[in-house]
Amino acid sequence: MCGIVGVLGNHEAAPILVEALKRLEYRGYDSAGIATVSNGKLDRRRAVGKLVNLSDLLVHEPLAGKSGIGHTRWATHGAPSVTNAHPHKAGPVAVVHNGIIENFRELRTDLAAKGYPAATETDTETVALLCQSYMDAGKAPEDAAMATIDGLEGAFALCFLFDGEDDLLVAARKGSPLAIGHGKGEMFVGSDAIALAQMTDQITYLDEGDRAILTRNGVDIFDATGAQVQRPRRTIAMDAARIEKAGHKHFMAKEIAEQPTVISEALAYYLNADETGITLPDPGLDFSAFDRIVMVACGTAYYACFTAKYWFEQVARIPVEIDVASEFRYREPPVSARTLAIFVSQSGETADTLAALRYMSDKADTIVSVVNVAESSIARESDIALPILAGVEVGVASTKAFSCQLTVLALLALEAAHQRGEIDGDTLSKRLTELRSLPGLLTRALDLDETLNIISNTLSEAKDILFLGRGMMYPLALEGALKLKEISYIHAEGYASGELKHGPIALIDSHTPVIVFAPHDALFDKTVSNMQEVMARGGKVLLVSDRKGLEVASEGVWQTVQMPEVPDLFAPLLYAIPAQLIAYHTAVAKGTDVDQPRNLAKSVTVE
Ligand code: F6R
Repeated sequence: MCGIVGVLGNHEAAPILVEALKRLEYRGYDSAGIATVSNGKLDRRRAVGKLVNLSDLLVHEPLAGKSGIGHTRWATHGAPSVTNAHPHKAGPVAVVHNGIIENFRELRTDLAAKGYPAATETDTETVALLCQSYMDAGKAPEDAAMATIDGLEGAFALCFLFDGEDDLLVAARKGSPLAIGHGKGEMFVGSDAIALAQMTDQITYLDEGDRAILTRNGVDIFDATGAQVQRPRRTIAMDAARIEKAGHKHFMAKEIAEQPTVISEALAYYLNADETGITLPDPGLDFSAFDRIVMVACGTAYYACFTAKYWFEQVARIPVEIDVASEFRYREPPVSARTLAIFVSQSGETADTLAALRYMSDKADTIVSVVNVAESSIARESDIALPILAGVEVGVASTKAFSCQLTVLALLALEAAHQRGEIDGDTLSKRLTELRSLPGLLTRALDLDETLNIISNTLSEAKDILFLGRGMMYPLALEGALKLKEISYIHAEGYASGELKHGPIALIDSHTPVIVFAPHDALFDKTVSNMQEVMARGGKVLLVSDRKGLEVASEGVWQTVQMPEVPDLFAPLLYAIPAQLIAYHTAVAKGTDVDQPRNLAKSVTVE
């Protein structure tokens, strides 16, 4: 979490730093700060809360200088406060940091004993103090920074700025991504390439353990052993249009509305020219080589895996194990050599998912990632990275990335089924035609926006909301609850509808809306029985189903939402729309910060 940026420029750095931080605010928004060097003097400004507070402060207390560093924070150690905000400064050095310094307590005790007491609760201040202690002992700034980095344990992306040094930044990456940007007589550092999009599209990604010394003339990169190394410089295509709200009130609304388009793009990328088969990027996958799939992810991406488990098992007949990444490696699962491991991540930088991938890298036969950010760490450390092509997702609550993850996983499951002889070419072609109908169906589901808006006004008064589903609608019930709680702050839980009577039914009363996702499929009657158990106890049901379903099951229901009919297999992709719109409109009705809900960040780069 946290976003960092560094600039050695030819223009005033403060506005450039603030602009870059705007693009990084998705990584955290508890506080923001910048430091610059002007006429050799290091100075900083910091403000609690959103970046706009820092911008306001800079109007009244401007900061001159053409070199600087900046930070937007998602608090780990120490509450959001000005004191705990980055950049942290100790004597002649200022530091911005993304990650966690695991040995900061030991370092802090040592440093205090040597006369460098801490003034904040943060782990990052220890980095600045350690560097100051080396500089006081006579080391040059870059040597002091290198010695400091050597003494750190944990995960970090760091950028150092020094008093008296207008043409020097030191950056380091271990566990958290870092990009170096090349300008004309200017150099930049950023947590990702998007942060640097205004300045340059010429990017070098640091590898794990790399350190970089930057001047306006260029960058020298050293690996963890201290050997100088060359890392490739790439031209990064920046889809700037996708970073605007395009007339929508929130990024989330825009991203929900974009889903028919991005799903079409993902399908076009993977379907053969005649649309009867699937082409996977080189070197492709031989599904007959696997006897098991392990799928690992976090949050919404995990629910995409959960949905895909049904597809792989029912259609391709391969056993699938799924787990949340934060649990996976700590339970030390035995892994057979014929295992295909699939890691799903929008950002491609989620620390838990990356750690799970590394755990599997010498155990599984093949590591596949399903990612939105093609240049991300998870993509780069996989044998095959499958892009989901959702475009930049800015809203913290994942929407279009979820449906693109589902699209790619559905294609993968169909490819597996075909390769393993579970479906023939005609059936594959039929399923692909069904998938291609999805963007049109999603467009029709988006027409329910106003209906769902009205219903959500009532939902916004609830204290608790339950989501129910069976089969593939069960993971969607979990996703619907997650979406609602993260942006509306209403307590919500998703349950497998058959599980309700084993405990959660005790929660049912007339104040607790129960949202039931139930397309008219093979499990419909069973879901309706569970729904009736809820209504028999005074429960207030919102039934989301299709025409056939509503014809037989609407009686006594509080509200109904009629969805287009959809091939059973792909219903989760369609029913994601009402799940997302309910969360969105409920949050808007409550007046919460939809795109940047409290306590969250878009990219979770700490464990
Ligand atoms: C919820 C949400 C999160 C992410 C999770 C994983 O709306 O966005 O639950 O899905 O933090 O993030 P990625 O996909 O970047 O690994």
